[in-house]
Amino acid sequence: MTSSPSSRLPKAELHLHIEGTLEPEMIFALAERNKVPLKYASLDALRAAYQFKDLQSFLDLYYASMVVLRTEQDFAELTAAYFTRAHQQGVVHAEIFFDPQAHTQRGVAFQTVIDGLWSVIRDSETRYGVTSKLIMCFLRDQSAESAMATLESALPYGERLVGVGLDSAERGNPPSKFQAVFDRARANGLKAVAHAGEEGPAAYVWEALRLLKVSRVDHGVRSLEDPTLVAHLRDEKTPLTVCPFSNVRLRVVDKLQDHPLGKMIDAGLMCTVNSDDPAYFGGYVGDNFDGVSKALKLPQATLVTLARNSFEASFIDVTERQRYLKLVDEASHTAFVGASAEPALPNETASQLTPNPA
Ligand code: ADE
Ligand code: ZN
Repeated sequence: MTSSPSSRLPKAELHLHIEGTLEPEMIFALAERNKVPLKYASLDALRAAYQFKDLQSFLDLYYASMVVLRTEQDFAELTAAYFTRAHQQGVVHAEIFFDPQAHTQRGVAFQTVIDGLWSVIRDSETRYGVTSKLIMCFLRDQSAESAMATLESALPYGERLVGVGLDSAERGNPPSKFQAVFDRARANGLKAVAHAGEEGPAAYVWEALRLLKVSRVDHGVRSLEDPTLVAHLRDEKTPLTVCPFSNVRLRVVDKLQDHPLGKMIDAGLMCTVNSDDPAYFGGYVGDNFDGVSKALKLPQATLVTLARNSFEASFIDVTERQRYLKLVDEASHTAFVGASAEPALPNETASQLTPNPA
């Protein structure tokens, strides 16, 4: 893999689904190892299916593909592969989502999942130079009872988790559905984040803030539709984990040049840039930085602010935060945008720059 121009900028990744890093090659390798039949005859046939019309069409493929993950070793290898790629793109800290219900409901034990992830997360700093934390997400299109049962099975492993999140199909599944689950998670010392305002309305962002008491909003791009909400997010300095390539691929916006990130920054919002599901959306976090810097003509100073925000918004302690902010300051004196800022993955990334077919 070529390294992206902004790989020289130290950054934290705060919105990354580990299952969304499952690359096509790994899908095929794990399918063979675990004797799981695949619907697609070749890598090309699988890749050809990566055309999404909305969030649900992506989720259908995402859940179908992750059935190849069966053993602790599978989850460990997936996580190790992510750290290798993230490190190459300048990630020095990652707060990683996982979707336990997507595994337990097909017969993989919660312990298998968490032990596999943890075996790599535990020493990601010494092995990959990336500190990391785990955030367990509830699938919002499943019941609140299922989320509560998942939380109960996770609490004995609470030391391995920094927080809980909320993901999957947003429309029709408001944050309010999970208020009791989030209350219990926070009472047990877990931080709260939630996807809101991706496909769902700004009202869901309000609910995530007021009812789930989230520390960050994942996506939140539709917040711009409500000026009172924008003012609130600005005044409270609530971080938004924005995922530009994801928003193009899932048709939240038509093309990268139309992405509202610039408007959000201009409105004073505390934005960060992230990759969401990089194996499906054409690039990792450095590629997202390069893509928006080029498409939105963001100056280097803005990229530095986005990197600083990623540490300000993270769940690391004060000492670690100061150490990372110093790294950003040092890097800000070297050029990492400009003439060399071509997308790192030219073919895939370039497709992010063109409009989706109607
Ligand atoms: N799960 C994985 N990626 C997601 C996204 N972009 N939105 C909601 N749930 C997800
Ligand atoms: Zn996401």
